[in-house]
Amino acid sequence: MPITTETIETLIELAKQVSQKAYCPYSQFSVGSAILLSNGEIYSGCNVENISYGLSLCAERNAISHAVTQSEEKIELQMVVVYTPTATPTSPCGACRQVILEFANDNTQILCICDSDQQLKIRIEDLLPHAFNRIETSSS
Ligand code: THU
Repeated sequence: MPITTETIETLIELAKQVSQKAYCPYSQFSVGSAILLSNGEIYSGCNVENISYGLSLCAERNAISHAVTQSEEKIELQMVVVYTPTATPTSPCGACRQVILEFANDNTQILCICDSDQQLKIRIEDLLPHAFNRIETSSS
């Protein structure tokens, strides 16, 4: 089912709002993500940094973890919106691409928005080509 303009506007607004909750004292780079599941549910998340930098959690993975935690069923991503307070869109990091893929379907859309009219709308298969998506050994 196509995603309505109204739903996309809701996701954009939510991603912007939740970016204001980012805990990012080290990078000062606040990120907000809002995701739409195939069942119509919407979840959001911001980035949460840590003094041990590698423990920092990106907004997209936070939103997805939130959905896994709260949703009653196995989650499937219909759309992932990522907002950064920048002049050009920022696309998800490699770790987030792999986690998005885990819950993606063939039509999952990723929409990266910023403070200008520029946006990037892209499919996960184009963000993460030749992805690692199964465990297979020579004996399996
Ligand atoms: N960040 C995200 O939340 N999502 C991304 O896809 C890229 C990076 C966060 C992680 C870190 O808190 C800050 O942005 C700077 O890298």
